[in-house]
Formats: sequence, C-alpha cells, structure tokens
Amino acid sequence: MVYWPSRVQIKEVGPRDGLQNEKKPVSTADKINWINMLSETGVKEIEYSSFVHPKWIPQLADAYEVGLKINRNPNVRYSALVPNMKGLELALEAGIDGASVFMSASETHNKKNINKSIAKTYPVLAEVIKEAKQEHKHVTGYVSTVFDCPFEGKITPEQVIRVCDKLFEFGVDDISLGDTIGTAVPSQVDQLLETVLRRYPQDKIIMHYHDTRGMAIANITRSLEHGITRFDSSIGGLGGCPYAPGAAGNVATNDVLYLLHGLGIDTGVDEKKLQEAAFYIQNKLGKALPSKSLTYAASQA
Ligand code: HMG
Ligand code: MG
Repeated sequence: MVYWPSRVQIKEVGPRDGLQNEKKPVSTADKINWINMLSETGVKEIEYSSFVHPKWIPQLADAYEVGLKINRNPNVRYSALVPNMKGLELALEAGIDGASVFMSASETHNKKNINKSIAKTYPVLAEVIKEAKQEHKHVTGYVSTVFDCPFEGKITPEQVIRVCDKLFEFGVDDISLGDTIGTAVPSQVDQLLETVLRRYPQDKIIMHYHDTRGMAIANITRSLEHGITRFDSSIGGLGGCPYAPGAAGNVATNDVLYLLHGLGIDTGVDEKKLQEAAFYIQNKLGKALPSKSLTYAASQA
C-alpha cells in the first residue's frame, strides 16, 4: 500500500522555461496578462522570466519590464533565473522574491549553456547566492542533466551530488534536479533519489522533469513514492532548453494536477483557472500545446 502525501507544491515555470524555447514571440503585454492569470490560479510560485543575456535567450529580453508591471499576489513567490551578478542586479531592481541560479552536472552542457566550466561557474554562483541571501531572497539552485546529458550520455548520482554539495555550501535554500532532455525512466529516478535523499532532507529537493518521451508522469509518481513533494511544471507542457538538443517541454502542469488531484493530493491550484490560462497562451502562440488533459478539455469544449 502506497501512502501518498497529503499536499504537494508546484512551481509554475511556463513563463520562463516554457517561453524560452518558443520561436513565436509573445508580446510583453500578453506575457503580463498571462502571468496575472497564473497568479490567480492558487499556485504558490511562478518563475516569471530570466535575467540571462538577451542574445542567448531573446524571448525573455523583457524580463525587467515584465517584473515591474505584473500584479503581485502576496501569496505568490515571483522568482526568475539569474546566471551572474549582472543578472541578479537587474532582477533585484525588477523586484524578484526568489532567485534561481543554474548549472549542470555535465561539464559539456554547462559549457554550452553558460559558457563556463563547472569549476569556473562555482565562484560566480557563490557570489550571486551570497548577495541574494543578503537581500533576503529565496534562492533555488537548479542542477541540469541529472540523468543524461545530450553531449556526454549517462550522468552518475555522484556527479550530481558533487554539484549539489557546492550549491548547498554556498547557501541555496533548495535544489531543483533537472531531467533536462526528458530521458529518465523510474529506475533511474530510484537510483538518483536513493543517493540524494540519503544526503539531503526531502523538503530541500524539487524534481524538474521534461517530458520529451512521455515519461514525466511516471517519474513524478515514482518521486512521490520516495517522499518528494515539490515539482516544477509548465502550463500546457511548454518548454525546453535551447542549449540542450532534444529538450522538449516540461511536464504539463495541467497533467500533473490531474494526477495529483486524482490521487487525493492537495495542491491549492484551481484546474479550471489553470486551463483558462493555458488556452490564453495557446491562442497567443497559435499552436496546440502538448498537455494531454488540455487536449482532452479542448475536445470537450
Ligand atoms: P558570456 O558571454 O560568457 O558572458 O555569457 P560574459 O560574462 O563574458 O559577458 C559578456 C557580455 O554579456 C558583457 O557585455 C556582459 O555585460 C553581458 P559587454 O561588456 O560585452 O557589452 N552580460 C549580460 N547582459 C545581460 N544580462 C546578463 C548578462 N551577463 C553578461 N545576465 C551567460 C554567460 C551566462 C550570461 C550566457 O551564457 C547566458 O546568458 N546563458 C543563458 C543560457 C540560458 O538561459 N539557458 C536556458 C536556461 S537553463 C535551463 O533551461 C535548464 C533548467 O530549466 C533546468 C533543466 O531543465 O535542467 C533551469
Ligand atoms: Mg528546464
């Protein structure tokens, strides 16, 4: 008999991970309307944009303006991706509640994504984390390619732990482990989480699954069995990393809610309101989003 947790926390990453991989630009005004809709769904954290170099991610070049203009729901933590001190300074001015730093367990993906070796990334992130904590911001550390790397293949749990140890030492509040290219199956989740959860408390670990091969829901279910209660997901299944070939969208928040609510787990998120926000961005992008529950809802409308 599996005992499911009574409550799970979802971080909505659609406005960041989702839009960073979309070819069709979404106007700043539409992003703001959409994030305002997401703010009313009951979700407790929204990663609303990214303060990376605009040449690297042009889709999110308006992070500053979006940050200044969205309506702030006091029950929501508004976080954004920050790669370095320049990004952090802009993000602080734009009023983030949380900073998400990021690096990879794989040397090659780290280099392709942030133009540095793992060793050279550590001092950059150490400074960002220290400064963000001094400003009383929540700091999440993303570790990418925790199962497989598009360039190096299999990544071991020990490689992941090595990076996590450093990020915790620098002062992150929690760590999000990314299946960046959506290759993992539940036995890999077992292998990683057995190692990770021997070392860190469950509530410090967030799982971030991309759904390239349709395995994310199976992997979330397995993560729940390990006691994980925090997940990142993206409305409609938008998403992907432009610097990781083969990275399709994140697991769809709509599908995760269907799973969790079906298991009797409380998320605090209103499925109907989330669906409306998904239809809104689907219309703006002019294409159907991959979420299965959304596709079903559209067929019934
Ligand atoms: P770089 O070129 O090595 O940067 O890029 P640099 O420090 O050498 O600076 C070069 C120029 O960029 C300078 O300007 C800086 O001021 C400027 P110049 O003096 O030449 O005029 N610059 C900036 N401008 C604006 N904002 C900044 C910034 N930083 C420097 N923040 C850098 C290094 C990290 C900036 C670059 O590689 C970059 O932006 N990479 C981001 C890539 C990215 O966003 N990838 C996707 C997100 S990660 C992801 O999706 C995975 C995740 O979802 C988890 C998972 O799924 O696994 C999180
Ligand atoms: Mg991602």
